Amino acid sequence: MSTAKAAYGDFQTPLALARRVCAWLARRGHAPATVVEPTCGEGAFLLAAAEAFPRARGFGLEIDAGRATTARERLRRAGSAAEVRVGDAFTEPWAERLAGWEPPVLVLGNPPWVTNAALTVLGIDNRPARTNDDGLPGLAALTGKSNFDVSTWMLRRWLELGQGRELAVAMLVKTAVARRVLEHAHRRELALHDASLHRIDARASFGAAVDAGLFCFGTRRAAAIACSVHAELDAERAEGEIAVRGGTLVADAAAYDRARPVLGVADPPWRSGIKHDCARVMELRRDGEGLVNGLGERVEVEDAVIFPLLKTSDLRGHDLPRVRRWLLLPQRRLGEDTSRLAERAPRAWRYLCGHAEALDARRSTIYRDRPRFCVFGLGEYSFAPWKVAISGLAKQPAFTLVGPDAQGRPTLLDDTCYSIGFDDEARARVALAGLRSEPVRALLRALVFRDAKRPVTKEVLDRIDLGALGRGGATRG
Ligand SMILES: C[S@@+](CC[C@H](N)C(=O)[O-])C[C@H]1O[C@@H](n2cnc3c(N)ncnc32)[C@H](O)[C@@H]1O
Repeated sequence: MSTAKAAYGDFQTPLALARRVCAWLARRGHAPATVVEPTCGEGAFLLAAAEAFPRARGFGLEIDAGRATTARERLRRAGSAAEVRVGDAFTEPWAERLAGWEPPVLVLGNPPWVTNAALTVLGIDNRPARTNDDGLPGLAALTGKSNFDVSTWMLRRWLELGQGRELAVAMLVKTAVARRVLEHAHRRELALHDASLHRIDARASFGAAVDAGLFCFGTRRAAAIACSVHAELDAERAEGEIAVRGGTLVADAAAYDRARPVLGVADPPWRSGIKHDCARVMELRRDGEGLVNGLGERVEVEDAVIFPLLKTSDLRGHDLPRVRRWLLLPQRRLGEDTSRLAERAPRAWRYLCGHAEALDARRSTIYRDRPRFCVFGLGEYSFAPWKVAISGLAKQPAFTLVGPDAQGRPTLLDDTCYSIGFDDEARARVALAGLRSEPVRALLRALVFRDAKRPVTKEVLDRIDLGALGRGGATRG
């Protein structure tokens, strides 16, 4: 992808998809007097809207002059009088324009799918300014966030601009963007009604491997924040409803209601696994009789510092997964002085010193001013012989039973995983059965947003009250 293409989040919508969307909106009863495409590109949506809503006045804005010309040409050839201007959607005086447009207004399109972080990496300034004509509050804080989606800003803006007006939004966005807009409406108590999200196959239409959909809502009147989720544009029946429960947005409101019996506080809490950040040195594999590191070097260190290690890819719900990696653990307690290893396990110490350059270069700030070669996410719970574990990254969360190895060494987990610990297998299995029960499955369906980078979080897991299932809690906190 070219730099300019990346900066402008340039995935032009195929005309066929824009047509399907506009025809569908017309079938749903939309009859706008004005259609706005705030980042209109080559004009697919304006063209499709001219066909579906022939009486509406069209207005498009596009930052790239070449694309704006293409859009004008296409519209002219189709006999549409829609106006296309070259301009920046972030600084355009939308409030002023809106005041001059006849309602109802339909804001349509496909805003740039790009994050602030990506723009920073590219050294490009295509993002909302810190102040703008409407003095939108919280903008500075918002644009400072590295993972902030440019389209989230655009949709929030239209949500705010539309308050109390006959305005509807229908935009193709990543599903995570839709969720953030709903959250924003909830937190700010903004009027948002008749919201729905219709999944689209972003790979087929844009060649982008993301969860995306058409997100629609109105801004005229206040209503309880709720958004029906549909498998595709034409799926009448919703597969679920995103709504507010217990003060926060949940992915599936009906599942949340079914999960009530197990909603509570986990005691002891779930723990995340070990963070070490230098897998090629710290993680070892067995090769014949010996251990080999990620650099292909044979590693001969004391047995006492080697522990079996499981990662996300090992936790698929198949109990007692086969161990394929071992971790060199330089300490037994958080904050312990790792230089004691020089006496306790001199070969391991020599090995670590031999790779000091790579270990000292670990980027995370948590290693700064800490004992050399140290790891994080370590506690008594790490050494529980039995555990129930789950990956934080899994789209289909599955609890997995984890046990000690043949020598009785506890199996450790890396920091993409969470676990609770037990002193014996029987208790771990009882808890596992509880965690695999329908109310817990419903709780995960309710609270896990599968499109998130880390769908399963400690916050979600800590809401499972295993005691309420009569299964008892973990024995190692
Ligand atoms: C994902 S493409 C979609 C184009 C069009 N909406 C469509 O559906 O085909 C995003 C478009 O936004 C334009 N764009 C990016 N930043 C913009 C800005 N700040 N103001 C106006 N347009 C912008 C890009 O040039 C690109 O054409």
